[in-house]
Amino acid sequence: MPEKLRFAGDPRMIEVTNLTKQYVGRTAVNGLSFRVAPGEVVGFLGPNGAGKSTTMRILAGFLPATSGSAKVNGFDVFHQSIEARRSLGYMPENAPLYLDMRVKEYLHFRGALKGLSGRELRKRVGDVMEACALSDVRRKIIGNLSKGYRQRVALADAIINRPPLLLLDEPTNGLDPNQIRHVRDLLLTYKTRQTILLSTHILSEVEQTCDRVLLIHNGQLRADDTPRNLVKKLRVSSDLRMELKGGDDIAEELNKITGVRKVTERNSIEGWKRFTVRVEARTDIRTLISEVAMLKKWQIREIHRELPSLEDVFVELTANAV
Ligand SMILES: Nc1ncnc2c1ncn2[C@@H]1O[C@H](COP(=O)(O)OP(=O)(O)OP(=O)(O)O)[C@@H](O)[C@H]1O
Ligand SMILES: [Mg+2]
Repeated sequence: MPEKLRFAGDPRMIEVTNLTKQYVGRTAVNGLSFRVAPGEVVGFLGPNGAGKSTTMRILAGFLPATSGSAKVNGFDVFHQSIEARRSLGYMPENAPLYLDMRVKEYLHFRGALKGLSGRELRKRVGDVMEACALSDVRRKIIGNLSKGYRQRVALADAIINRPPLLLLDEPTNGLDPNQIRHVRDLLLTYKTRQTILLSTHILSEVEQTCDRVLLIHNGQLRADDTPRNLVKKLRVSSDLRMELKGGDDIAEELNKITGVRKVTERNSIEGWKRFTVRVEARTDIRTLISEVAMLKKWQIREIHRELPSLEDVFVELTANAV
């Protein structure tokens, strides 16, 4: 049976219903509801101050909600907080590590707190140090590590007892591109086994790793869909990039095609004329262009459609962010 089907009848891994969190003078989360099924990897997006970290802290049992409910693995995070906490690994935004402990010692301590012991504990500490590329610094004091290494210690801590749910609040923040790739690959290895809710500002990361995106703004849900559908639904125009040979009337002829908004000629290369054609949202005029090209005997070397990106979606849905 395909991996994802197995989850169909399972209880929800995360169930947030009408969740609200008010700080003094500020509503950080405002009637938020969403669900995450077991096995899903969900990107949690939103501008600074949208309420992502607040929501994750509530789910992790570190912060009480003002109203509404949140369940993890079927357990209420407030009323059944021990069971809920056992079901998850949480990597906070600014990981509150014990700075005067050594890496291995710290992971040992955290693993023991989470119920591991003996040979299993030692094996898991070794495994997560290897997975998070920490073996070289295992005897170093955490306070002396660079930010990137501390992030990796926090991630190792979150995954040490293999919880079914990972809540990762900007896990790649402060990492260099190599390390970002390393963490992304690491998450992909967990993808089939674990449920992950991941907040990040790196949208390419979301496009590559996440099955679904939850986008929040001012503490409210703005979008809940696959990255691909979000891009498809977006009402923004797309560009076609073309390289072709033909008469002097190419731009004029392209402009006549229904759906074309604007034709811009760029520098030609080796006798090939280059155009950028802005096309109305959700129209694909590539076949129309080839029909015109046949009639006019143009030679086309390249015709490439640039779809809007997740970044365009983000900007469109949160443009009034302060
Ligand atoms: N302890 C607090 N007391 C008062 N206000 C707070 C507190 N923590 C967060 N806030 C406010 O709540 C709102 C949501 O903050 P939160 O940290 O959840 O946002 P975020 O989406 O994680 O943002 P970022 O992308 O910057 O991490 C912000 O306006 C923030 O200033
Ligand atoms: Mg945050």
